[in-house]
Amino acid sequence: MRRGSVLALVGLGILAGGIAAAVAVLLPWLPTPASREAGRIDFVFWFVTVICIVIFAVVAAGILYAVLRFRAAPDDESDGPPTHGHTGLEIAWTLIPTLLVVAIGIVSAIVLAKNDALAKDTMHIDVTAQQFAWSFQYPEANGLTSGTLRVPVNRSILLTFTSKDVIHSFWVPEWGQKQDTVPGIHPTLHITPDRVGRYPVICTELCGLGHATMRTYAIVMTQKAFDAWLHGQTKATSSPNPSISGAAVFKNNGCESCHTLAAAGATGNVGPDLDTLPQSAQKAGQPLQQFVETSITDPNAYVAPGYPKNVMPETFKSLPKDQLDALVQYLIQSSKKG
Ligand code: CUA
Repeated sequence: MRRGSVLALVGLGILAGGIAAAVAVLLPWLPTPASREAGRIDFVFWFVTVICIVIFAVVAAGILYAVLRFRAAPDDESDGPPTHGHTGLEIAWTLIPTLLVVAIGIVSAIVLAKNDALAKDTMHIDVTAQQFAWSFQYPEANGLTSGTLRVPVNRSILLTFTSKDVIHSFWVPEWGQKQDTVPGIHPTLHITPDRVGRYPVICTELCGLGHATMRTYAIVMTQKAFDAWLHGQTKATSSPNPSISGAAVFKNNGCESCHTLAAAGATGNVGPDLDTLPQSAQKAGQPLQQFVETSITDPNAYVAPGYPKNVMPETFKSLPKDQLDALVQYLIQSSKKG
């Protein structure tokens, strides 16, 4: 090969590689990782991406060079010269991809094993998914339940999932992992958050009419702030005279993702407006309290005109009686004010 040809090939390769690298680096494809697991996944991602960019540059340079250099003249109808294999080339293009794929496999296996390895002091949190809300239970804090996922930073955390109805999927983009929640089994996900902040929790499996509203937040706190929060919460739930807050029941069960209720700052519109409960009860021809309670525990018994059946989950009949009562009173009082 002449020196000019080699230079042209190298130049084309650098050009193609440069363009591919710019597309990979300049566009924000992935959020900044906020967990150790996501950091490792990010490493695999870039490991593979760099390999791909190099291969792309070599192939693009070869194609572009061949198109430009060996272009046939418009009136040239003759056959090209006969060629027959090239043992050296064939060994190279078999061996190099084999080594690369094996390397990717090894790196991925190491990352998967590290990501699944629980620490000795792993904190367990039970995650419940239902149409259309997430709730988080802390068995180490007497089963304290929260509508947002609060976790201390730099702590190994194992989430165990339960679905009350259909398949949902748990996703915090900054944590880089997804986990389907499948009714009947209890999959787990290991996370070690390493950046304090507030990140969206998104349901990423189409699970019904309110799927798009099935969101909450993961709040990563310093250990001190987390302890203070936990202390405040457990004190509230274990006080000798438990006054369960209907507002908390409303929030923890994700009612706000589907309903509007001014008192709770809720603006959902998948289900009926809860600020007009007295009028709705009148339309249904039921006393207000009975109407509200039945609408929660047996939602298909009466469905407000203009709304489809089977959208409101039937799972709320399993709410403990005291929580249900608190919720009903809260809704009645809020809607009368509103
Ligand atoms: Cu739950 Cu989509």
